[in-house]
This record gives sequence, structure tokens and C-alpha cells, in this order.
Amino acid sequence: MPAIRNALIWDAGRDRAEYGDIVVKDGFISSVTAPKEAKEPILYDCKGKCLVLPGLVNAHTHVSMTLLRGLGEELPLMEWLQKKIFPVEDRLTAQNIRSGADLAIMEMLAAGVTCFADMYYFMDEVAMSVLESGIRAALCRGLVGDDPVKLAENLALAETYNGREGRITVQLGPHATYTVQPSALEQIAATARDKNLGIHFHWLETKSELDLLRNEYKTEPADYLEKTGLLGVKELILAHCVWHPAEQLPAVARDNVTFVHNPKSNMKLGSGYAPVREFMSSGVRVALGTDGAASNNRLDLWDEMRFAALIHKGYNLDPTIAGARDILKMATVNGSYGAGFKDAGYIRAGQRADMVIVDMDNPRYVGCDPGNVPEFVVYAGSSRDVRATVVDGKVLYRDGEFATLDSEKILAAASRDRRILAG
Ligand code: NI
Repeated sequence: MPAIRNALIWDAGRDRAEYGDIVVKDGFISSVTAPKEAKEPILYDCKGKCLVLPGLVNAHTHVSMTLLRGLGEELPLMEWLQKKIFPVEDRLTAQNIRSGADLAIMEMLAAGVTCFADMYYFMDEVAMSVLESGIRAALCRGLVGDDPVKLAENLALAETYNGREGRITVQLGPHATYTVQPSALEQIAATARDKNLGIHFHWLETKSELDLLRNEYKTEPADYLEKTGLLGVKELILAHCVWHPAEQLPAVARDNVTFVHNPKSNMKLGSGYAPVREFMSSGVRVALGTDGAASNNRLDLWDEMRFAALIHKGYNLDPTIAGARDILKMATVNGSYGAGFKDAGYIRAGQRADMVIVDMDNPRYVGCDPGNVPEFVVYAGSSRDVRATVVDGKVLYRDGEFATLDSEKILAAASRDRRILAG
């Protein structure tokens, strides 16, 4: 039973951070004691100079798109997808998916990310990368059109990996309203309910999707989610939600529904400002995601937190919107819960031991005290301050070193694959 010693501890359940020791047993936090009280062997000695937060959760991404980073910059979503992304994706092999996933997991672990929610294909490769690296993930096979083969692949993924080592959940992955017809979506939702699986779906990322619902399907967004059966699935992860109308929010403020805000991808692709203030005032759970590395171009939740906390204040001319505490809650427990890991996201006994250890002994943290931790983390903090990343009580990253990943090999494989793909 090792312990993280003498840390300044913050989670979304605390008004103020507190100094303490965190004792870990069998992948879970077994107790949080007063500082320097735990007698257990030391997993990490913070010496009162490190902050410990729940692990950050990237609640919507496509990890293997790290190989597509920088392809087709500064284009509108549809043109970008059709001219630059889809043609390369048509050529991706299982090996590419694996090397892109390994690369992404390396980047995320070094930035304090302990869990991610992913939609792509050849997802067995991503699952293997998750299992070998030690990170946690919610995985789905992206479904386009009405394709029984792809649905069968998604169900096989669930059969093989759902619940594996307590580190993987599997959802069904209908891609978006513009790629999956309503009848196919109904069928996917019915299958999800039947198999007790969640759904991960791109939702109203651009205005054209709202226009499609209103003009073609003659329906409003919440009614569409209800009618297709999506609202009734185990966990519904809705990525983007930029154009979800405010008056349609109360109907989706449910325990099984999570909106994933991806502010940098939305800004880069010119998709719009998600109405985050309205999401929060309606009681909708909001998590944070980066989306794929081709539209961000980082998989860095610190960057995403800071960006989310800033843009809504400027856009709405109101500095009280998207406060640091709410943003840090989005990036931690809201993401874990939304991804189907309901016992992760807080630092207290009984929770999964997923944590990020942050160096406060640097210029950015002078002035940080137990009363202002979220504000320092969100406005001044940076992934550069991450000292260690812990999943299930195991230190997967520490001071530039990866416990489970061969970083040189991963960089070489990804560089080789990228050269071939872009060539
Ligand atoms: Ni996406």
C-alpha cells in the first residue's frame, strides 16, 4: 500500500485544497490522511511542493489522428474532411492506427491525462494500446451509413473489451447526423439499449447540422435525440453541441447525458462558440475534449481548460462565465463519469487512484494557496508542470520517463507511418 506523501490535494468535491497523504491499495484510493501521517512506502513524496489533482480526462478525441496532424490546415469542416482527411483515412492500416494511438497516449500521459474517450476504426489496435500503456479509455468504432459490418465490429469490440481490467468501457459510435440516417440511428440506439451499451456521437458541431434537423427532418434537437432513442442509452457522450439551442437543453439535462465541449477544435474549424453558460445553467453535465490532433492540434487538456475559461468571457462580455472551478470539474470528474467510469474523478477513499502530480515549485505557482488552486491551475498552469501521471495507482509517467511505453520506438514508428501517409 504505497502513499503519495505531503501533497496539496484538490478535487471538485472540495471548496479548498488541503495538505495530506493519499494511500493507494489495489488500484483504488484507500484513505486520505493528514500530511506525513501515512506510514506506507512512498510512491511519490510531494514534500508540500506538489499539487495532486484527479487525472485529467480527454472526453472526445480520435487518438490515431495524431498521424494526420497538420494535414489540411485552415479549411471549413466539410472541405477539410472531404478533401484532406477522408482520403488519408481511406489508406490507414491497422498498424497506422496503433502507432498513432501509441503516440497520442504518450503525449497525453506526459500532460496528466489519465482517461480518454475515442471514436475511430481498427479499434482493437487502440484497445491494445490502452491495455499495454496502462491508461483508461472509453472506446467506440465510428459508424457511418447503415453498415452491418461496421456495427458488428463495434459489437465485437464491446464483447472483447468492455470492462476489461476495469480500464475500458465500450460505446457504439454513430458518427454524426450528416453521416448516419435517422433510421440507422434508431437501429443503433435500439442495439445499444439491448446490449446495455452507451453511445458516443458527434452532435451539432456546425450550424449545417441544425439546419439539416430543422429543414430536412422537421424536428428540433432534443426531440430528435428522444425520437431516435439516443436519450435512453446507458451513457450518451455528445461531442461538440455547439448549435444545441438553449430552449432544448432542459430535456437533455439527464444523468446519462454528457456534453463534451471542444473549444479549440470549434475555434480552429470556425464552427462557433458553444453556449457553455446555458449548458451549465440548465444542469447539463459538461466535460472537455480536444477532438483529434488534426483539428486542435494538441492533445493537451491544460490548453483546453485555459482556452475554455477565456473564450466565453470574451464572447459574452462577462468575466463571470466559465469559472476556473467549473472548468477543472469539467476536465476531471465530469469526463470520468461521462465516459462510464463512475468511481473515478475525486481524491477520496473508494475512488480509482487516477491522479496527476503537478509541480508548484516554479514561478507560475508563486501565490498559489489552498484557497485558489483551480484559478492557478486554469489560468497560470501548464502541462509543463506535470511531474507524474498515475492510473490505477501505477505511476505511468514521471519526470519525462514512461513506465510502460518505449518512447523512442513509438516516435520512430509514428514518424515512419506519417511519412508514408503524407507522401
Ligand atoms: Ni470528433
